Amino acid sequence: MSFSQPKTTIDEGDTVILYLTVTNVYAIEAVPQIKNKKGELIDNVFQTNFGALKVKDIIGVQYGSKVDLTKGWAYVLQPNPELWTQTLPHRTQILYTPDISMILYQLEIRPGSIVIESGTGSGSLSHYFLRAIRPHGFLHTFDFHEERVQKAQEEFESHGLGEFVKVTHRDVCENGFGADLDGKADAVFLDLPVPQLAIPHAVKAMKEQGGRLCSFSPCIEQSGRVCEALEQQGFVDIVNLEVLQLEEVVRVKNVPVMNLEFVKHKKTESDKETKTPKETKKYVTSSAPSSVAGHTGFLTVAELPPLFAR
Ligand SMILES: C[S@@+](CC[C@H](N)C(=O)[O-])C[C@H]1O[C@@H](n2cnc3c(N)ncnc32)[C@H](O)[C@@H]1O
Repeated sequence: MSFSQPKTTIDEGDTVILYLTVTNVYAIEAVPQIKNKKGELIDNVFQTNFGALKVKDIIGVQYGSKVDLTKGWAYVLQPNPELWTQTLPHRTQILYTPDISMILYQLEIRPGSIVIESGTGSGSLSHYFLRAIRPHGFLHTFDFHEERVQKAQEEFESHGLGEFVKVTHRDVCENGFGADLDGKADAVFLDLPVPQLAIPHAVKAMKEQGGRLCSFSPCIEQSGRVCEALEQQGFVDIVNLEVLQLEEVVRVKNVPVMNLEFVKHKKTESDKETKTPKETKKYVTSSAPSSVAGHTGFLTVAELPPLFAR
């Protein structure tokens, strides 16, 4: 239940974040015993780079506390979508926080939003939708991989989020989102290999007053095909975005000192002294790097106008 409400202490069954360092973060289940390969119940001991943790020792402990490991220590934290994205079991490629923040903003997700998502994948993005739409909204998430559907449903239940989400096993490109969702969605998000096939189904599922759609494409060719399909289906304001984190380069530079008075009174542009000032001074400068690494994909976003204006 640890995702659904702020908590003070760790209860048995909680998902807990074990935070060692910024790059050493794990999600563990607060269960005192687990079954070994022979099916026998044994103490649940979690191994880390800083030694072992007897999981039963964290039950009843306050969230935010420092707990001892056999060769060091860690903090036990209540999970949130950001920490879950860092620690979740990967069943597929997943979306990360920088892209997700742009998706939530572009889809105008807010408490009460009815959202359709496909595919569910590992449920990374779904957890952010669920935080943003509660307490009155609902997430309908679809995947055509049966085991991923089951696992995602189990995770949502164990995180205390089950009442705000339905996971459906379906090929949305072939079969759409179902007649029961016709005219229901405020927003649709697609993370699929052939998203353009799901776009006509998305139009059916969106509210009469229109709504927002976003599709994640790893390559520009796919986002091109999405743009064409969006245009054919009557979407407007189609925008293709890429979220890149730009780290400013800060360094001390020798910068020429311009004598502005001197420049003002010079007659010709070609005067040597104007072009090459003699004095230089050290400054702390900042500039953008010439290229930015970290491509994940393109976010194609668009608006479906109200029915009377399509
Ligand atoms: C990259 S994963 C999605 C990851 C997810 N956005 C996350 O953050 O965890 C893509 C998912 O789409 C599913 N998928 C692919 N084609 C599909 C289709 N036609 N209908 C439903 N699901 C589909 C795959 O099974 C896979 O789980």
